[in-house]
Amino acid sequence: MNDSLFLRALSGETLPKPPLWLMRQAGRYLPEYRELRARAGSFLDLCYNPALAAEVTLQPIRRFGFDAAILFSDILVVPHALGQKLWFAQGEGPRLEPIADAARLGEIREEIDQDVLAPVYETVRRVKAALPGGTALIGFCGAPWTVATYMVAGRGTPDQGPAKELFQRDPALFARLIDRLVVSSAAYLNAQIDSGVDAVQIFDSWAGSLTAGDFQRWCIEPTRRIVELVRARHPQARIIGFPRGAGTGIPDYVRGTGVDAVGLETEIDRGFVREAIQPLVPVQGHLDPQLLRAGGAEMEREIAAIRAAFGAGPFVFNLGHGILPDTPIAHVERLVELVRA
Ligand code: CP3
Repeated sequence: MNDSLFLRALSGETLPKPPLWLMRQAGRYLPEYRELRARAGSFLDLCYNPALAAEVTLQPIRRFGFDAAILFSDILVVPHALGQKLWFAQGEGPRLEPIADAARLGEIREEIDQDVLAPVYETVRRVKAALPGGTALIGFCGAPWTVATYMVAGRGTPDQGPAKELFQRDPALFARLIDRLVVSSAAYLNAQIDSGVDAVQIFDSWAGSLTAGDFQRWCIEPTRRIVELVRARHPQARIIGFPRGAGTGIPDYVRGTGVDAVGLETEIDRGFVREAIQPLVPVQGHLDPQLLRAGGAEMEREIAAIRAAFGAGPFVFNLGHGILPDTPIAHVERLVELVRA
């Protein structure tokens, strides 16, 4: 794996061309994904089927030759392995049986049932064996705050209101839920690393909705503990944090958590990144997924501007959030061409 450009960038090397992968690079914008997804049954059946999940992980690598593959799974398999009911309603996103009081929290497990997640680790082994040399494999989990927003509300919410309401009304109960997610997420990441992933990413998609104090308590501190638990078992582990929307809070996040690299949202100011973030750690991001969908001259200018802004330091090219399902494949091909030019 020493020849992996992605891992070299994560280790702090400045490269002539940035390595490239895209969040949600396996998914509905690919016809081969839609075809396989229709055969697999439910989305969760696909996540827990090692042969099919490995195939879906490899599809974007075959098509575009990205520098890294990301394991095909979901952040919500952790609450599922804690015993919380989870299903994906067609076209509506995830649904869980909400946990909003101590009685409900008492009904789920203290630690994840690793048997539930065994198929995910088998997927890692299969992908690892099939990947071309030089292509890294990324594992992941959701950060405790983001996963908790789904566990408490039982679904995605526009403002994370139910989870905020819970930590404001009963911070001790919310802390118990977060503690459980810290231990579970670290166990999940450690098992992925044992199975062969080269790096892991911690997705905190809703980090931007917290005040500075709550960000410290519910985002930085739990993530710091996950990093510590992963490094206790795997001192060399490479960990990318993605506190989406944290903006000017990112330097505190980087110093407070000890992550090796950080993902950048689309909205962040590039001057701030160059002055206050890239001197601390390699950065990854941050093309607007909507601009990738739109394509054309605006997209091409933005790709050039991102490369010019971050190319003088350690940098991994990516989006600022996941690829949109109606993104034309030709635009992704053009992106790859430009980043490799
Ligand atoms: O990036 C990849 O290609 C790897 C796979 C991956 C998925 N979800 C597959 C998926 C990853 C890394 C995730 C992370 C994830 N899942 C996050 C964090 C990143 C982010 O997007 O903010 C979150 C919040 C979730 C929870 C989740 N899963 C939601 C809200 C949804 C519904 C929205 C949607 O796009 O449909 C999912 C479902 C999901 N996870 C799909 C995929 C490919 C679509 C399901 C389908 O094919 O029907």
